[in-house]
Amino acid sequence: KNIVILISGGGSNMATIVRTAQQEQWEQRYGARVAAVISNKPDAAGLVFAREHGIAAEALDHKAFASREAFDAELAAIIDRHQPALVVLAGFMRILTPGFVAHYAGRLINIHPSLLPAFTGLHTHQRAIDAGCKFAGVTVHQVTAELDVGPILDQAVVPVLPGDTAETLAARVLTQEHVIYSRAVRALVRSL
Ligand code: GRF
Repeated sequence: KNIVILISGGGSNMATIVRTAQQEQWEQRYGARVAAVISNKPDAAGLVFAREHGIAAEALDHKAFASREAFDAELAAIIDRHQPALVVLAGFMRILTPGFVAHYAGRLINIHPSLLPAFTGLHTHQRAIDAGCKFAGVTVHQVTAELDVGPILDQAVVPVLPGDTAETLAARVLTQEHVIYSRAVRALVRSL
């Protein structure tokens, strides 16, 4: 069972999943492995991490494509070479076309740094602080054609502390992202 992880930057969520898979021996225990890491940014630091861990790492620069559909079609062709049982969006900062989402229906998940359905979209931490929220958090969900809305698989809550900035809150949330994403992927690969 191959897992393909899509990133756009540092890939700390991807790195946590890769390390967890290795430490918990997912290949031996569940027949599951991270087969590839793909980024839409050629300079994504996460690609270096993947290569250092012996994982196929490829970049597909979205700027090289005339349309979202053309990019998604090429992205799907690269992903499908790895015959994925599960496609994991981890800090992947692109909106995917309905055709792409339909192609991976039921095996495409994402992590979003808010307690969905609150705060879909961007700048979630600043918006939570501005709204006076006492709690924030992170959601792992199935990806559907509508942004940040699909069925929720897991969530974690963190307190919003007096004096929090978007950066301090983001750091607190990111720690929980790492915990629940590797937990969610493990649960999924065990069930596949
Ligand atoms: C994080 O803020 C996370 O909430 C979102 O993308 C950002 C970077 O994640 N998913 P990563 O370090 O690239 O996994």
